[in-house]
Amino acid sequence: MNITVAGTGYVGLVTGVCLAEVGHQVTCVDQVKEKIVLLNLGISPIYEPELDTLIEKNASAGKLTFTTDHEQAYAHSDVIFIGVGTPENEDGSANLNYVFQVAKQIAESVTHDCLIVIKSTVPIGTNDRVETYIKNHLKHKVTVEVASNPEFLAQGSAIKDTLHASRIVIGVESEQAKEILTAIYEPFQQPILTMNRRSAEMVKYASNDFLALKISFINDIANLCEAVGANIEDVTSGMSYDERIGKKFLNPGIGYGGSCFPKDTKALHWLAEEEGYILRTVKAAIEVNEKQKFKLISKARNEFSSFNGLKVAVLGLTFKPGTDDLREAPSIPNVRLLLNEGARVHVYDPVGEENFKKHFSTEVVYEKTAEQALEEADLCFIFTEWEEIKAIDLSFFNKMKVPFVFDGRNCFSLEEVRKAKINYFSIGRPEIR
Ligand code: UGA
Repeated sequence: MNITVAGTGYVGLVTGVCLAEVGHQVTCVDQVKEKIVLLNLGISPIYEPELDTLIEKNASAGKLTFTTDHEQAYAHSDVIFIGVGTPENEDGSANLNYVFQVAKQIAESVTHDCLIVIKSTVPIGTNDRVETYIKNHLKHKVTVEVASNPEFLAQGSAIKDTLHASRIVIGVESEQAKEILTAIYEPFQQPILTMNRRSAEMVKYASNDFLALKISFINDIANLCEAVGANIEDVTSGMSYDERIGKKFLNPGIGYGGSCFPKDTKALHWLAEEEGYILRTVKAAIEVNEKQKFKLISKARNEFSSFNGLKVAVLGLTFKPGTDDLREAPSIPNVRLLLNEGARVHVYDPVGEENFKKHFSTEVVYEKTAEQALEEADLCFIFTEWEEIKAIDLSFFNKMKVPFVFDGRNCFSLEEVRKAKINYFSIGRPEIR
């Protein structure tokens, strides 16, 4: 089977590489020349553990190729995966321009029967619409069918999540499509769940929105813990022994970011409203998250009457550790606010500097180490729990004028902090002075 994957972003590229890794013949297509040039040199355009190695390995084995020539690639495909972005429109709905752009190219290029598989996160009903669109625009007399196959990988563990996925969800309307996809995924040896296309599309949104809800819920409880003198760490530990609740995704913080949860919560809420239904739980998750982003700033305001002229050290910029991605990272609105209020901001992140420069060039000072950022600082904000940041020797904070540390990811144990004699404010735990 000849497989083509449209899009070399997180979803497209990881899908293509993993399909090649299990033995399929894969061509990855992208319209951005620079990306294809890099990929042909064996270099991944995104930072993701193991990705470079697998690109190199499968490209040299002749199982993986990269091209901008979509016409050629689609013409000879048996199966085409669509893994392009579905960003957020201003009103919160999903923007499907890239999906339909690829659909148009496919309709104009396919020369024999093929199955088109949508991996991108798309609103319920999109698979139906794409199928109708392609059928109406076909140049050649061929049979096409569209299937849904949502992706559940997380950035930073994308390869592992794909090669050892918890499940593979297939949304199909025919036995033939089911057989093709089952054969493609057979080497992965994971549970395959087959359902109709609309249910598969919904599984993706419902999963992401549930996880977002879990985070907003625990942030809400953490805020209440602060008010009533409880410690969120003990509370989540006590909750997590109930298997129905579990241990994961109960870490409080300054809200969820990234390219998925913010957009997928808004898109499903928007879609529900279009159907005349208010998705109250998801709406609440979105509202809590918006407010939680500025939780550290409001704590700092209780200690400092103004940020004007103060040196602020910011440790961690990316939306989570293990990625250089800054999409919807809480660091961005927080740094903007600090700058607007006259603070002198010195930032440090192990890998996020280049992407942060796209938002702030000369307005902030980029430091090479956390220690340098802390030198003579008036206050410190921690936005991302990088291992390197969690491993900081707490005595480093004594490099600050008077150590005032606002930790948005609960990086340090309160016991250690007490010994280090710093003023420390975290999420859902008692303040240390
Ligand atoms: C998320 C999902 O975890 C994946 O299953 C899904 O496939 C993916 O979106 C997607 O739709 O493509 P990702 O955005 O890479 O993956 O990152 P997560 O690890 O889920 O983290 C998202 C945000 O939630 C981060 O800002 C993180 O700091 C925050 N978070 C996570 C918390 O605040 N607390 C937690 O306990 C867990």
